[in-house]
Amino acid sequence: MPASRRRLIAGNWKMYKNREEAASFVEALRPFVDGFSGEVYLAVPFTAIEAVSSAAEGRIRVGAQNMNDATEGAFTGEIAGEMLTDVGAQFVLLGHSERRHIFGEQNDFINRKVLRSLEAGLEPIVCFGETLEQREAGETAQVLEQQFSETLASVTPEQASKLVIAYEPVWAIGTGMTATPGDAQKAHQQLRGLLEQHFGPQAASTVPILYGGSVKPSNAAELMAQPDVDGVLVGGASLNAEQFGGIINCDRAPAT
Ligand code: PGA
Repeated sequence: MPASRRRLIAGNWKMYKNREEAASFVEALRPFVDGFSGEVYLAVPFTAIEAVSSAAEGRIRVGAQNMNDATEGAFTGEIAGEMLTDVGAQFVLLGHSERRHIFGEQNDFINRKVLRSLEAGLEPIVCFGETLEQREAGETAQVLEQQFSETLASVTPEQASKLVIAYEPVWAIGTGMTATPGDAQKAHQQLRGLLEQHFGPQAASTVPILYGGSVKPSNAAELMAQPDVDGVLVGGASLNAEQFGGIINCDRAPAT
């Protein structure tokens, strides 16, 4: 990974942990975060954002896992970006495959959320990835290209420099099946090329691209040794401080 980019380890708690569990997790994670030269991000349930922010004392960036594309309105059950910043969120995950596949979110809706999140002062982590069916049909590159151009439509090069991209093959999420480091690198290289094509060399050389999908302490170093894999987005293993800390530590002393 070139010096122009940040090492970034992000956790996605999904729908787990109450405030007390969240605060004790942050306490247990502290020794792993202290001395780590990269950045640690945690995407937590809305109800835990304040608890994690206050327990993290600035050492961890805290974010949400979704938001609506409007600033306010009659949208029962939805949440606005401004409400997230109001409770201390600094970033937001957008276009996660569980949002796409369980809740039917399409590229155009995610695109509006990306634009709104930037306006709200949140750093969007935008997720892309192919299904097993698409991979087996040899459509991975085409799927990534379409998701990229539709989800990031109308984003300016200046706004693009504030993005984080995550490659999360759908078949690898929560399944224990991880992309090989070579497959991950291939997709990351393509995404970096798309950054260059759409937003220019500055965005391509600075925007972090994370790999997500069954990342564990045992495979994280190998994935992050790839030149275009700047960090990881961790679901299941981010719920346990020892495991998530192991991933942070693997990065501190990468395997040679
Ligand atoms: P996983 O989830 O690490 O449990 O596969 C990754 C994600 O959903 O971001």
